[in-house]
Amino acid sequence: MSGHEPLVFSGMQPTGNLHLGNYLGAIRNWLKLQEQYRCLYCMVDMHAITVDYDPKQLAQATREVMAAYIASGVDPKRSIVFAQSQVREHAELAWIFNCIARVGWLNRMTQFKDKAGKNAEKMSVGLYTYPVLMAADILLYRGTHVPVGDDQKQHVELARDIAQKFNNDYGVPNFFPVPDPIIQGTATRIMSLRDGKAKMSKSDPSEYSRINLTDDADTIATKFKKAKTDPLPLPESEKELDERPEANNLVSIYAAFTDKGKQAVLDEFKGGQFSTFKGALADLVVSKLSPIAAEMRRLLADPAELDRLMLRGADQARAIAVPVMAEVRRVVGWVT
Ligand code: TYM
Repeated sequence: MSGHEPLVFSGMQPTGNLHLGNYLGAIRNWLKLQEQYRCLYCMVDMHAITVDYDPKQLAQATREVMAAYIASGVDPKRSIVFAQSQVREHAELAWIFNCIARVGWLNRMTQFKDKAGKNAEKMSVGLYTYPVLMAADILLYRGTHVPVGDDQKQHVELARDIAQKFNNDYGVPNFFPVPDPIIQGTATRIMSLRDGKAKMSKSDPSEYSRINLTDDADTIATKFKKAKTDPLPLPESEKELDERPEANNLVSIYAAFTDKGKQAVLDEFKGGQFSTFKGALADLVVSKLSPIAAEMRRLLADPAELDRLMLRGADQARAIAVPVMAEVRRVVGWVT
């Protein structure tokens, strides 16, 4: 019983093309939430500069992510859609949270270890404290629910720890809500089409590892055709997928797009060859993604309108953030 109004916050990095994992793991789940709750959906362009990037392309990449949100069904009249860098309070709260979070907590973050590999010493400090900025994103609005894919769960847990430690250290019980991750559906972790044990990701060097939201029908068909599978036909029961990661991934994608369970998909295709299933899967995915890609093209043809919508979103976000930050400044003891 926190007494906080439910508020949904989520975001996506404008780095490279959005893919099927971003869509099924996150955006699609945002749509139902906006019918019921106050939702903020952010393009996290401050997170995007924690790794090497091209400043000439960032603004356009941010517009592309915004276009992908709207084309997928995020309604900017219902939800607040905005760019993180346009609300400066994110950076301000992140600094305060840098003084709350412990080095030991950040040392446990698996995504930093995965991204840095053996080069941790050469990574930016921003990449290291990236989850702290993410906590600031959520808590600046007193966010209570965070719909994300499975890979972000640990970061949302860090945001919970930060909220609790802030409330305790400053003696302000319940000042920040303790946000819950929402990780829903059959597609919380979409895997690479080349390796069923690796996550589908923007940074995989192989284009064949992922389906981008803007891929055309031929590209989608070719990528599924080349997708790795084992030589066996589709199994009878869902249980048998446990040992077959590539098969499991393709069946999960089909199940997610048809809103069915994996067993229902197997009931339709069991005993069949993967070549047949892959054809049906490609047709299904094309039928779902091509209207989104077309709508994205239409929206991106008018960048001035997207920029206008983005500024309006930032104004709406600021209307929530500024009063929260004013309270935070008082709580931490700054002269106000
Ligand atoms: P990002 O940009 O890496 O991913 C955006 C969303 O897509 C989900 N996702 C996946 N889901 C299923 N299968 C996959 N293969 C897959 N790949 C990505 C992610 O889980 C995520 O939900 N740090 C975040 C962005 C962020 C954020 C926030 C999210 C910044 N501040 C505050 C929520 C709340 C990130 O880099 O996501």
